[in-house]
Amino acid sequence: MTSPLSIRFAKSVPGEKGALVLLVSEGGELPPAAGKVNESGRVGKAMKVADFTGKTGQTVDLIAPDGDWDRVVIVGIGDIADAGEDHWMKIGGKIFAACKGSETVTVETEIAGKDEIPADGLAAIAGGAKLRAYSFDTYKTKKKDNGKKGVKMTFVAPASTALRNAWKDMDGVTDGVYFARDLVNEPANILGPVEFAKKASELEKLGCEVEILDEKKLKSLKMGALLGVAQGSVRPARVAVIQWNGGKAKDSPVAFVGKGVVFDTGGISIKPAAGMEDMKGDMGGAAAVCGVMHALAARKAKVNAVGVIGLVENMPDGNAQRPGDIVTSMSGQTIEVLNTDAEGRLVLADCLWYTEDRFKPKFMINLATLTGAIIVALGNHHAGLFSNDDDLSEGLTKAGLATWERVWRMPLDKEYDKLIDSKNADMKNIGGRWAGSITAGQFLQRFVRDVPWAHLDVAGTAMGSPKNEYSQSWASGFGVRLLNRLVADSYEK
Ligand code: BES
Ligand code: MN
Ligand code: ZN
Repeated sequence: MTSPLSIRFAKSVPGEKGALVLLVSEGGELPPAAGKVNESGRVGKAMKVADFTGKTGQTVDLIAPDGDWDRVVIVGIGDIADAGEDHWMKIGGKIFAACKGSETVTVETEIAGKDEIPADGLAAIAGGAKLRAYSFDTYKTKKKDNGKKGVKMTFVAPASTALRNAWKDMDGVTDGVYFARDLVNEPANILGPVEFAKKASELEKLGCEVEILDEKKLKSLKMGALLGVAQGSVRPARVAVIQWNGGKAKDSPVAFVGKGVVFDTGGISIKPAAGMEDMKGDMGGAAAVCGVMHALAARKAKVNAVGVIGLVENMPDGNAQRPGDIVTSMSGQTIEVLNTDAEGRLVLADCLWYTEDRFKPKFMINLATLTGAIIVALGNHHAGLFSNDDDLSEGLTKAGLATWERVWRMPLDKEYDKLIDSKNADMKNIGGRWAGSITAGQFLQRFVRDVPWAHLDVAGTAMGSPKNEYSQSWASGFGVRLLNRLVADSYEK
């Protein structure tokens, strides 16, 4: 989906048309820019009547005020001393929502007093508005979004290189979020493994190198665990390898690996019918990998990065794998498949092994809608973080707090690892009843050798998470901003 919101920055107010947005910080002073619209004092009075104090997210909407504006919207921006990206993005989302119905929106970014909104704050406001504007309406054949053409939003701010750069980055990152959301929202009849791989190939337009490994290649690589999952579907598996080389030629890359189960019926261990439609989003990890690669390429990040996504469909069929089957993974380790619904780890096992083997990355982070148990543990507000490395975990936790794509570290240990020993093979693909997310993590760890690694279980955050100021979409795009931030903060030179 392209954004229905077009954003620009200008030095002066382009004309008194549509909605004017004024920003007011805690304390409730109108900015000097209010001047004319508040000549009669009506705007100030409306703020008083509405008990407006400038608390973040508060809004006052004045329809048909004095002058030529259709409306004036006052938006509280709270205490901005320690405001981070999330604070500003929420305000951007609020602005977009508050101006619904106006096709032209002018946001005056000057605020009262001596405080100023920093360049990255302004970019984040615009980014928040853009993310709020996202809607998945490809298949709505009737009028889209009230028949509106789209919204033009102008931010009035002095031109500066800092602002230009901040917006270029934010624009690229939010495009990456759009890309991920679209992939997750798309139904599985339209988006199979082959079609997903084709979407990943679109990243070539941004300067990425994309290779698509087909079944023949996957067989020759001996990816028996991944292929075992795919064999119940009439649609063949693919693995996409996406590279962005923005760093020094000899620098080892950072690596992202994604679970891309385009639909998870559970296979022969079939899932109950209720809510099964959500399993079109079981490729949320792979979508986030594509989204972050998009973000890095769009903002020309000075880093070498590789994204590897395992694309399969998990179906019951005459040729599907059975509970009790034993498959041999690319690593050589054998796996007894006791539950065909624990398929994500089988896909990732081969993708992780392949990624470390081929790229010897600086770190490897995989994202996967891996377990229902992580939703039981953490709900929709944190992704589960499992890692063999404290520094990487800390980096992810910090990036999570900055972007509000939060992660919460869970344990890994040999006692849990023992739970997936199998009597018939090297391991089984499920543990017992308890600690389901951890035994899944232990399973993945068996396919990681000497590299800092983190596994993000995004089952509760990639989709179906509660709407907020800057996401109204079932598919959140979780992980794109998180990983982009991790790279920007610690891995770019
Ligand atoms: N894709 C599911 C996990 C999932 C559940 C994601 C709900 C998003 C929302 C995964 O493949 C799965 O089925 N996991 C099983 C594992 C079990 C069989 C050990 C689960 O969580 O029930
Ligand atoms: Mn499953
Ligand atoms: Zn799954």
